[in-house]
Amino acid sequence: MVSSEEWHDLGEVAELSKRPLQQIEVAGKKIALVFKDGQFSAISGVCNHVGGPLGDGCLEGDYVVCPWHYYKFHWKTGEGEPGFEEDRVPTFPVKTENGRVLLSLNRLTTRNHKFHEPMHLARKPERAPGPLRVAGISTTAMDLKYPRPSTSEMLLESSLKHAKFLGFDTHLVKLRELNFRHCEGFYSKSSHACIWPCSITQLDPNDQLDQVYEDLVHWADIILIATPIRWGSASALYFKMVERLNCIQNQITIHNNQLICNKVAGFIITGGQDNVQAVAGSMMGFFSELGFHLPPFPFIAHSLGWSMENMEHNVRYVQQSKVLVDATKDLVNRCATLSHSLIAANAPGTLQNRAGRKAFNTRDHEDDPNLNSQI
Ligand code: FES
Repeated sequence: MVSSEEWHDLGEVAELSKRPLQQIEVAGKKIALVFKDGQFSAISGVCNHVGGPLGDGCLEGDYVVCPWHYYKFHWKTGEGEPGFEEDRVPTFPVKTENGRVLLSLNRLTTRNHKFHEPMHLARKPERAPGPLRVAGISTTAMDLKYPRPSTSEMLLESSLKHAKFLGFDTHLVKLRELNFRHCEGFYSKSSHACIWPCSITQLDPNDQLDQVYEDLVHWADIILIATPIRWGSASALYFKMVERLNCIQNQITIHNNQLICNKVAGFIITGGQDNVQAVAGSMMGFFSELGFHLPPFPFIAHSLGWSMENMEHNVRYVQQSKVLVDATKDLVNRCATLSHSLIAANAPGTLQNRAGRKAFNTRDHEDDPNLNSQI
């Protein structure tokens, strides 16, 4: 029995019944208030998954759908959808009286988390003993049935051949052979909606970017990324992958969780036209933001230049260029030298101080008068 003083007045029925679902705050508690079939109900506004605001989601049949990753909870019982009933958010008494909506915070039911086996990618990154491991990622797009020569991929294969010759383990990923979705901007809903492992990887069993995550976060000591130059930038597939790697960077941003430690990145860039330095700059910037170390001279490149767009000649040139093949070997050697020393040092993550970093936690800086005027 709820005593009269425990009822909180939420407002007018006429006003609150205008929206089927809304997120409200009652005495500091987040509540998802539902109006459906002429009745109000109230469930917790905090999702069981990673705390998404349920009241900001939508109503689908009898279920409130979380706006972050679409978990569903029954509008009256707070239980998950069929098969996930054990995953339950609290429900609260709600009634109408004299044209007002009243809610009590004395829960009718409690929260319960169904055990979900953590995804394999979620394990702690720990280097397994063994020879150096080099992952090559080719970002060239082409027809899978009728492939064509790719100069960046040729040089990547040449690098991996040399790595193998040195006794390293190698793994080549051709992004075009993977079925993977674009990043859908979970971070833009809330930085906390972007999770590790990537929510798309967790929600979509057909998404194959887990192979890249596995190599980058767990398996490889060295990654070599190869790209063609497309209109002065890296390839579209490169950027499609990079956007999905935001979740690795975001772990640093919001949790100080540096997933990439003591790993090395090198780059191979080729193009019919120029802009090598801009492409290299963008790639180096991004991968160092993930935590990768760069060796001295971290990229090799080849371009015929603006006025030499003779692509048939270009493919032949790269195929026959001993200079470029030697450059791939040197790149691997430089990466390996750095990698050996990093593994030997086994240093923890290097990011100790968040200040000055992208999206550093403003709550840590509430005494900063310059920031206080902005937040
Ligand atoms: S589904 Fe609600 S927070 Fe992920």
